Amino acid sequence: MSDVSPARALGIDFGTSNSTVGWHRPGSESLIALEDGKITLPSVVFFNIEERRPVYGRLALHEYLEGYEGRLMRSLKSLLGSKLIKHDTSVLGSALPFKDLLGMFIGELKKRAEAAAGREFDQVVLGRPVFFVDEDPAADQEAEDTLAEVARKLGFKDVSFQYEPIAAAFDYESGISREELVLIVDIGGGTSDFTLIRLSPERHQVAERQSDILATGGVHIGGTDFDKQLSL
Ligand SMILES: Nc1ncnc2c1ncn2[C@@H]1O[C@H](COP(=O)(O)OP(=O)(O)OP(=O)(O)O)[C@@H](O)[C@H]1O
Ligand SMILES: [Mg+2]
Repeated sequence: MSDVSPARALGIDFGTSNSTVGWHRPGSESLIALEDGKITLPSVVFFNIEERRPVYGRLALHEYLEGYEGRLMRSLKSLLGSKLIKHDTSVLGSALPFKDLLGMFIGELKKRAEAAAGREFDQVVLGRPVFFVDEDPAADQEAEDTLAEVARKLGFKDVSFQYEPIAAAFDYESGISREELVLIVDIGGGTSDFTLIRLSPERHQVAERQSDILATGGVHIGGTDFDKQLSL
């Protein structure tokens, strides 16, 4: 882990509710402004029928709530690990594979990040929940493979993954002054993930941290389930 030059990879946290993109540069903020100076882009696409175009994030929610005719699609990440991912959906009169819908949204994250960074990226580290699919390792692997395939199609040649709670742990670690044993709890929109990890300023410089991760786990419950119950 070198701290002197900007990272070659973009970091993407494609979330069920909100997404963020980071680019590590020494001495600068890592998170990139994605919409109106804000560092999150709600993971939402609205296909505006009148104007025959997709819009993203807060603007998508705004157009939908303003009453524009169209189709609002959210919780896109939950397509990963579901059977729908192999199917199409009807959008603006044509069939759109759900995989391409993921590609549109993640492609938008890439485009906005590259515009803000003033350069292109062909390496990416994607966050992933500890489990995309509970108690089915094959389906879980398939979900990760699908996300990698989507990323490659967007032009990322080097695609790797990091567990979301471990990414959160490393962020916390950058601000501590002595060794701590930390339980990281990441309550998301789709999944809630937990990691018990040993953190310290010295260990922060080490690239291989497997031995510091004492346990990870996750469940497929998040804020979206609450929203859904409330709406119903
Ligand atoms: N400002 C807010 N006010 C109310 N609820 C919020 C706010 N920000 C986030 N939430 C809710 O908290 C939950 C977690 O949001 P978060 O952005 O962490 O999820 P995510 O990272 O997109 O999901 P996941 O990590 O599961 O893919 C969601 O249900 C979201 O709707
Ligand atoms: Mg999250």
